[in-house]
Amino acid sequence: MPLVPPYIESLRPYEAGRTIESVRSEFNLDHIAKLASNENPLGASPKAIEAMQRTFDSLNLYPNGGLDLRRVLASQFDLKVDNVIAGSGSEGIMSNIIRAFLCDEDEVLTTDAAFIGFQVLARSRGVRYRTVPYGDWHYDLPALAAAINQNTKIIYLANPNNPTGTIFTKAQFDDFYRHVPERVLIILDEAYFEYAKDNPRYPDSMHYRYDNVITLRTFSKVYGLAGARIGYGFAHEELIRNLLKVKLPFEPSSPAQAAGIAALQDKEFLHRSLELNARGLRYLTEELRDLGCTVVPSEANFLMTVLPTEADAAALFEGLLSQGVVVRPLKAFGLPNCIRISTGTGEDNRLCIEAWRKCHAANVGASHRS
Ligand SMILES: Cc1ncc(COP(=O)(O)O)c(C=O)c1O
Repeated sequence: MPLVPPYIESLRPYEAGRTIESVRSEFNLDHIAKLASNENPLGASPKAIEAMQRTFDSLNLYPNGGLDLRRVLASQFDLKVDNVIAGSGSEGIMSNIIRAFLCDEDEVLTTDAAFIGFQVLARSRGVRYRTVPYGDWHYDLPALAAAINQNTKIIYLANPNNPTGTIFTKAQFDDFYRHVPERVLIILDEAYFEYAKDNPRYPDSMHYRYDNVITLRTFSKVYGLAGARIGYGFAHEELIRNLLKVKLPFEPSSPAQAAGIAALQDKEFLHRSLELNARGLRYLTEELRDLGCTVVPSEANFLMTVLPTEADAAALFEGLLSQGVVVRPLKAFGLPNCIRISTGTGEDNRLCIEAWRKCHAANVGASHRS
């Protein structure tokens, strides 16, 4: 018997986007536009930072497992505390779901090139991981429904989806749900919920509460708290009760929990973040299309471009990087000819387009024109 199981040995670890420091030192540049990890370019809510600082006096004490945040969320969404879980980012909760519900013979079903964090977690459990292709860069929900078999235990859907930025609509989800047996758990990952929620076709999962659906949300994106690691989930109390059994007892940390509670109340910061993102998405989409790029319409805080070839995507990534613009190549997701760009400040978005223009002028990333 090997020490390391084959499904761990063959796993590719999660590769985060390049850090500002590593790019700055490699290319000796003053300013780096980091548009690689769907973070909030405005920083964090000042109210969240203050609340976090207020917890520093009691860092010697263990946290209460997210109970304060669970209570606040329960009251805000008119639920019982028993329907809410808080964790170290939504990925922390995802990892608990994988541990709590998957047995060896179970299968996980999702789309090709699903959010990489989920791919790594699900594959690390060593169960069968099955996918269906996208339809025009959207989840193909009818194909997913048709792919359900006796062993399917978890279906993972991100809405909006990372990395495509697309959504499925309420009507599409309702139709899909009718085909999902009750024994199958649907993870509805709504990490980018706030960006899409005003679209009338977007299915806010709080409007229907099914016993086999767990909704995951995060403070990492629009609330600007990715570094604090704080996320939450809503589900039937039976699911939450079992998740609480496997969750690390003291996650989330008390500073993270305090930051999350304060961030929920900072409507001004939320509004500013959404406005900046909407402007950035419009600008980047229009400019990139003017440059002749294929841009997938996005409902999140990033957009995906489809390059002619894998070599184009790699060359463009390097070309932008050397000019201090860090975007995300999507080879590790399973889309080697695609690049994802997060929206940044107005200034960083402009830098990105300028750098892209220079690449194009030099025929970098545009093999079809050379
Ligand atoms: C679809 C999706 N889910 C979850 C996450 C991770 O969120 P968290 O920081 O709460 O773990 C991300 C982050 O990029 C994401 O894109």
